Amino acid sequence: MSQRHLQFQDRVNLGSYYTPPEIVNLAWQMINPHLDSRTTIIDTACGYGDFLKNHRQSIGYDIDGTAISIAKRNNDNTQFFQGNALHNVSRGKFGISPQSKLIVVGNPPYNDKTSLIRRKIKSELYDIDEDLTSRDLGISFLRSYDKLQADLVCVLHPLSYLIKPTNFKSLKGFAANYKLVAGQLISSSTFRESAKLTPFPIVIAFYRRDQRGMEYDFIRSFRFDVHGGGCFCLSDFDYITNYISKYPSKRHQPIPDDSLFFWTMRDINALKRNRTFVKNYSNNTIVVDKRKLSYYAYVDVFKRNLYRLPFYFGNCDVPIDDKLFRQYKHYFISDTVRHHPFLEKPFQINPIEKEQAKTEIDRYFKLLLGKHHAMLPTFDNSP
Ligand SMILES: C[S@@+](CC[C@H](N)C(=O)[O-])C[C@H]1O[C@@H](n2cnc3c(N)ncnc32)[C@H](O)[C@@H]1O
Repeated sequence: MSQRHLQFQDRVNLGSYYTPPEIVNLAWQMINPHLDSRTTIIDTACGYGDFLKNHRQSIGYDIDGTAISIAKRNNDNTQFFQGNALHNVSRGKFGISPQSKLIVVGNPPYNDKTSLIRRKIKSELYDIDEDLTSRDLGISFLRSYDKLQADLVCVLHPLSYLIKPTNFKSLKGFAANYKLVAGQLISSSTFRESAKLTPFPIVIAFYRRDQRGMEYDFIRSFRFDVHGGGCFCLSDFDYITNYISKYPSKRHQPIPDDSLFFWTMRDINALKRNRTFVKNYSNNTIVVDKRKLSYYAYVDVFKRNLYRLPFYFGNCDVPIDDKLFRQYKHYFISDTVRHHPFLEKPFQINPIEKEQAKTEIDRYFKLLLGKHHAMLPTFDNSP
């Protein structure tokens, strides 16, 4: 049973992608050991209330009145209310006493407000407390849990909120007052509605209120569990950003005639969509620093090998093992030149036989990724 009362446009605007029961269960496995008779559970973006079926004192809240009336029919134990959870946020608003031990559960909407479909959008969605305002609704929701002084928070959200430094910074009070205790990674393709889109990693995150909060370095070295087996830690890898810059330089310098251009790099998922070497200059291109040409070749080859990566690399920068890469450099450059003949001149190398280059590049990726090397293609651009 999934948000079927909503049309496509409202689903997008409200971020209404309801959570499959097996994922709700994973969250509850994290919460269960912490329940006691003083505990109040709240989901402030509850949809049909699927996260709230297991506990006596629970509160469901959602801006979507139809969802709330369906939730009331499905669940007698919970108190349900309709309203905007990001406006005038306080425990009082939800009828929670200051003494209650509060656990927030759920899967708040995550959408970038600039990507909302504007027609018919409910204006009340924009009434957001000033201290909660952020470009992304999901980040506003996380900050609202800090305002409620929740003791524990167990919610789903994009992993990018934690691993992208700009997002992490915008968590503000949430990062200052909460510490990640456990995080389990699932793919966005678990949600039926997004199965056709490029999968991105979602974390089922369990946070404990802690005045020491967390720094970005804590996240970098945090070991996330991968649902289905294995774990992932950002700092187990070195990244291309330590060798070349991802973005065009802001200074307007004259561009020499023999310049080479490369498409702006964002994360792995963007690399999947975007080009690499391009022939013409534009606002989206980087002027290649020729002293570092081989690193651009690396990214170009990487793009053709994305099928090797599991979904949880989706929002990371391109990983690299520099020492190893130096040994394999020739094969990478050879592969790049084969795919972009116009690069033959700047690279000036004797091309290596295609099959040999392929074998060696295969070896490099297996060594780089180790246990993360995908057994089966997970990206659809596999050869
Ligand atoms: C991803 S769905 C989650 C629903 C449910 N918790 C689940 O996981 O099945 C997000 C929900 O947030 C609600 N929502 C969006 N903006 C809201 C707001 N400002 N206040 C309260 N609820 C909101 C949507 O109506 C939608 O039901």
